[in-house]
Amino acid sequence: MDNDSETMRLILIGGPGAGKGTQAKRIKEVYGIPHISTGQILRDEVAKGSELGNQVKGIMGRGELVADEIILNLIENRLKLPDSKKGFILDGFPRTLEQAEGLEPILKRRGVTSVKVLLLNISDDEILKRLMSRGRADDTEETIANRIQKFHNETQDAIDYYNERADLVRINGEQEIDAVAAEIVQVLGAPGK
Ligand code: AP5
Repeated sequence: MDNDSETMRLILIGGPGAGKGTQAKRIKEVYGIPHISTGQILRDEVAKGSELGNQVKGIMGRGELVADEIILNLIENRLKLPDSKKGFILDGFPRTLEQAEGLEPILKRRGVTSVKVLLLNISDDEILKRLMSRGRADDTEETIANRIQKFHNETQDAIDYYNERADLVRINGEQEIDAVAAEIVQVLGAPGK
């Protein structure tokens, strides 16, 4: 159990290609907290050919969302690992209102009372430009379009949820990578402070 309000616990929300993974890696280095990406956990399961991986492979390939129940289970199990006691960065989760609401009791069971939410804002045009030149398996034009649509239709509800609670800080994700990182550190405060 951990209810230390000084502990850094973060949610990074943003559209596909907004730079969540890129910035989470930086934050991990600066603040020494684990980076928990639901997308990466799922890609690892697909690569292993596990039952879960086989279950979600097609869904991810189409740019649809994996079921909330599966995702909430993954997150609860991941947050039980000892490294998350010192804090964590959730990248790509919550992505629906159900996930945002489902996270609450999970955090409560772990004694966590405060989480910061950062929204990385970028335009749909910039998303397309970035992802078409990256080339991950789900970076095809059709799949990117689906991922953008899911973001506007489903993830927006999670954004509204945090916005209503005044827990959300907006970051301009269209700047250079270093400038985005600097804005995040400005919002979070220098490490150890
Ligand atoms: P996930 O892995 O979360 O993919 P995503 O949200 O589509 O995000 P990306 O990984 O594409 O982008 P990112 O924001 O991390 O940007 P990145 O730093 O890589 O999810 C994949 C799939 O898994 C989903 O479609 C879904 O099926 C499933 N899934 C995952 N979580 C789920 C959940 N909670 N519920 C249900 N289903 C779930 O950067 C992208 C590119 O841009 C890189 O090439 C990078 O170098 C570049 N870049 C980054 N920042 C900048 C910058 N500032 N300027 C220029 N280029 C930049």
